[in-house]
Amino acid sequence: MSPSLSRNEILTTFTIFGAGVAIIANTFQGDGNPIIASLAFSGVAFSSTYCLIRWLGGAFMKAGFKGKDMSKLRKVEIPETMGAVCAVVYLLVIIVFIPFPFYKDIVAATSGGGNRDFVLEAQQVETGRFLHRFPHNKLAAYLSAILSLQSVVILGLGDDLFDIRWRHKVLIPAFASIPILIVYFVDFGVTQIVIPTPLRPYLGELFNLGWLYYAYMAAFAIFCPNSINILAGINGIEVTQSIVIASLILVNDLLYLAPFTPHPHPAEDAHLFSIYLLLPFLGVSLALWCHNWYPAKVFVGDTYCYFAGMVFAVDGILGHFSKTLWLLFIPQVFNFIYSAPQLFGLVPCPRHRLPHFNARTGLMEASVASFERPLRRPIQEAMKLLHKLSLLDVKTNKEGVVVECSNFTLINLWLVWFGPMREDRLAMGLVAMQIACGVAGLFVRHRLALLIFTADNL
Ligand code: UD1
Ligand code: MG
Repeated sequence: MSPSLSRNEILTTFTIFGAGVAIIANTFQGDGNPIIASLAFSGVAFSSTYCLIRWLGGAFMKAGFKGKDMSKLRKVEIPETMGAVCAVVYLLVIIVFIPFPFYKDIVAATSGGGNRDFVLEAQQVETGRFLHRFPHNKLAAYLSAILSLQSVVILGLGDDLFDIRWRHKVLIPAFASIPILIVYFVDFGVTQIVIPTPLRPYLGELFNLGWLYYAYMAAFAIFCPNSINILAGINGIEVTQSIVIASLILVNDLLYLAPFTPHPHPAEDAHLFSIYLLLPFLGVSLALWCHNWYPAKVFVGDTYCYFAGMVFAVDGILGHFSKTLWLLFIPQVFNFIYSAPQLFGLVPCPRHRLPHFNARTGLMEASVASFERPLRRPIQEAMKLLHKLSLLDVKTNKEGVVVECSNFTLINLWLVWFGPMREDRLAMGLVAMQIACGVAGLFVRHRLALLIFTADNL
């Protein structure tokens, strides 16, 4: 990858950057719509990340952040951990963005009810007479999101540097979620779940989960980053799945802000908050995508997977739609459950489960785990059953003992179903399936849910 940008790249990125800065500067003049500012910040984030990835690739390789692309004929080393560039640009952008959503509130709190003609004595302002009008809770939510994200980015960097064992790192996102959980507790505190109509005669209308609801949210924060990291291993898949999830959440947010939704909607602020977090995320991810899509010129690293997952966890928890988010994570949930036998050691798990590149055909095939010692009988029987159901590819020896099976990942299963294919076609197939699942998920959430719940909160 050449560090210098082509003429076209310079023209495009600098134009986007310039336009972004101009729009941001302009929002200072009038009343400034924070969504427009957020869009402009995302443009700035996109162009900065795009250029920085190109410029910094060499420095990352020198520092040891590099990896071999195992699915290419020439296994050259390329920069890894480029998600760190995304994460840093993203964090800086959302930090600089802090005053924008609060601009009106700052004016209201410091100059007398938003009336700028009404001049106050300096002393009155300093004693904070109007500060009770400022939405400290919203600011706390925003700041706690930054804190949680930063903690997870540190974990991701640690993992890229030292390859931390997953049993050691699995709980860290739960600790990182404490700031947002505290804000949730103080600010919202709802720990009840609405019971579907058919179950109401037994459980009532609402069921209070109490502290279990916080445990659920912490588990959600563990799930999101890890689930993206294990649905990985072919060019572009980590970033593309994150872009798809972010776009689907954005669609869900827009449903709450659309003109046909009753206005003002109680969930409006939560969804605006979600948009402010997601737009710059899309900016940095699209820039990474340009370099990571097949044939990849850089790898995203665990930093990106953890960072992306945590953006979704924070968004879902503070936006109060974590249950809806599960519907946008269907392939990841499937992959997690499907991976469980290898993750929990029932079946040996090789260090890498990414598909196998057949150098002769140039196509990807399902990678396999082979067993020198026979597995326990019930496990072998379960694997043979999965084979019969076309959910696994199993090889047995003459005695009928399982000696080999395809690795338990959705990517390998896709290859078992549809046969060997080129790496980019594999990624496109998986992404198309993810989009279909996500759209179906949103449909279920907003249309079919009415069959078992009395109201959609739209
Ligand atoms: C997770 C998966 C592992 C998978 C790996 C690939 C589990 C439990 N772990 O491990 O099975 O092999 O991700 O990302 O499911 N690489 C490529 N092409 C790509 C992306 C990555 O060849 O498109 C290789 C490169 O050598 C790169 C390495 O994978 O250096 C990155 O692996 P890493 O992210 O460290 O693996 P894990 O997240 O630990
Ligand atoms: Mg990884």
